[in-house]
Parts: sequence; C-alpha cells; structure tokens
Amino acid sequence: MILITGGAGYIGSHTVINFINAGYDIVIFDNLETGHIETVKTLQTLGNVVFEQGNLRNAEDLEKVFSKYEIEAVIHFAAYSLVGESVSSPAKYYRNNSFGTLNLLDTMVKHNVKKIVFSSTCATYGEPEYTPIDEKHAQNPINPYGMSKLFIEKMMNDYDNAYGLKSIKLRYFNVAGADSECRIGEWHDVETHLIPNILKSVLYKGQTFKIFGNDYPTPDGTCIRDYVNVEDLAKAHWLAVEYLNKENKSDVFNIGTETGDSVQKVFEVCEKVVNKKIPVEVVERRAGDPAILYANSTKANSVLGWYPEKTLYDSVLSAYNWECKRFEDK
Ligand code: UFG
Repeated sequence: MILITGGAGYIGSHTVINFINAGYDIVIFDNLETGHIETVKTLQTLGNVVFEQGNLRNAEDLEKVFSKYEIEAVIHFAAYSLVGESVSSPAKYYRNNSFGTLNLLDTMVKHNVKKIVFSSTCATYGEPEYTPIDEKHAQNPINPYGMSKLFIEKMMNDYDNAYGLKSIKLRYFNVAGADSECRIGEWHDVETHLIPNILKSVLYKGQTFKIFGNDYPTPDGTCIRDYVNVEDLAKAHWLAVEYLNKENKSDVFNIGTETGDSVQKVFEVCEKVVNKKIPVEVVERRAGDPAILYANSTKANSVLGWYPEKTLYDSVLSAYNWECKRFEDK
C-alpha cells in the first residue's frame, strides 16, 4: 500500500485520486486539522482507501499505521503551509513540519520502508537571484515555512546517506485548480490564495478582491507566479514513485509550468471564466512577496517525463466549478 500523509488536504487528496487511478491501495494518514473528513469519504467511494486519523508529532500514531499495513512507499504532504502564520508562529512550523517529518522518517527506517516522495516548495529558494528558477538555485528561505521544508530536504539527504532511505523532493510552484470532475478541490478554512480569493469575490456579496500591490518591477506592476494545475502536479508524484521503483535514487525536481502569469493576468482569466466583472481594488503590497517567481522544470520533463497539460484557464475553470459547488452546498 501507499501511505499518503495529508491525504485529506488539497494537494494530497488530488494525489490520492491519481494513485487510485494507477491501481494502488492507499492509506491516508491525516489529523484533520486542515484536511476534511468529507474529502476522505469522497475518496473512499473511488477506490481502496483506508483512513487513519493521527498526528505526525506523535510517533506512536505513526507506529500504529506502519505496524498495521504493508507500506511500500510514502507520499508526504502533511504540513502547515501558511507563509504569514509561519512568520508569527515559527515554532508551530518547525515542530509540526520538521520535527513531525523526523518522526515519520524514523518510523520508516524502523519498518524498512525506503521510498518517500516529499511535498517541498519553491519557498525553499527565497528571494530569486535569477528566473526561471532551476534546482541549482541557492536555497535561502525568507520565512520559517520555507525553512521548515528546507530542513526536511536536508534530513532526507542525511537519511539516505545513513540508512539508504531514498527520497524525491518535488518543489512546487503555485498550485491551482480542482478535480476536473468537481469531486474535490481547494478547501482552506483560512483562504489566502489568489485564485480562490478572486472567485470568492464573484460568489459572496460584498467581497472585493484585493490586489496586493501594483508597483512591482513587472510589466503590469503586479507579482508574477507560476500556476501549476493540481491534477498535473498530482501526476508528478506518481511519476516520482515510478522513478524510485526503477532507479532507486534520491533526487529533487521543480514542478511548475515555466510560465509566469501576473496577478492582473490571473484576474483577467477569472473574469473571462465567470463572464462578468469582478469587484477589485489595489491595496498595499503584502509583506514577503517576491516580484517574480517561475520555474525551470526541464529536469522534471527530461528525467521524470512530467509535462504540465492544463492551462491557467483550465485551472481557473475547475476552481470556479468547485467554488460554485461549495457555495450551493452552504
Ligand atoms: N495575491 C493578491 N491578493 C490575494 C491573494 C494573493 O494579490 O487576495 C497575490 C499575492 O500577493 C501574490 C500572488 O497573488 O503575488 C500569489 O499569492 P498566493 O497567496 O496565491 O501564493 P504565494 O505565491 O504567496 O504562495 C505560494 C504557496 C506557498 C508557497 C509560496 C512560495 O501558496 O505555499 O507560493 O512562494 F510557499
């Protein structure tokens, strides 16, 4: 079986579908702090998915799961991921993300499970020295979230040297969209991300979308990011497991589209998808936002055979369908 930590969360749950489609049996390990039991229930209608509620910070919770199931590989998503919160509450990020992963790695070694695919982030690079960013770019995170993930990458390398535990680190850029059949999607109780925030201004009366600054050194003055579709991203995890099975080698890959889109451009695509004017205002810059981030993903293309297939329009459309469904369910 494949163990997917954080499988009740946004990216984890889309990855579960990908592994179901590839014929795997899955154990989801999630504490449901930010993930949702409704998502797990939906996934259980699609394939052989068992759910174990537990916390990475409790080694005993992990021990129970590894004793109960025959785990062949781990896909590790479970983490806190709010950049702003990580600045005000760093211990929460180091304790949960970094220390929690240490428990996971120790339990893997104990049970002789030697393959892990890790959800890393472009936030490990920090302020870009050049774009597009490739895997050789220096890693100098500018917030505890990015640092907590960088520690994990380093720990994984050390666990390979010491115990032969092989890891693939996938450094994602900005993840967007939802399941194209609208069964699951992005569902954060505190929403900070661009596309859901724009779409909420369409559905919820009185909400105005706020652009955080239009005085950046970019062609239209708004920040540029690389929006990778969540279903495309999910596929990268499956390819990473295939790669580990075949090559048995640790490695790291950027997962992005190699296209930079500005906040203004994303906003315009959203207006096109919903086919109406969306209320918008420009406000102050948000602290800690670099002007331009986009990926060089050549390595994932050539080594993993991973290519993004969906466009920004596809991502916004699936995200909108999902937001509409959640709105109607209220
Ligand atoms: N933005 C707005 N208004 C909003 C929300 C976002 O203008 O209401 C802007 C931001 O300022 C930024 C861009 O939209 O320029 C994208 O912001 P997101 O919050 O959607 O994404 P981030 O780029 O901040 O964060 C993402 C991931 C993080 C990861 C980070 C790495 O969500 O987990 O990329 O840079 F750490």
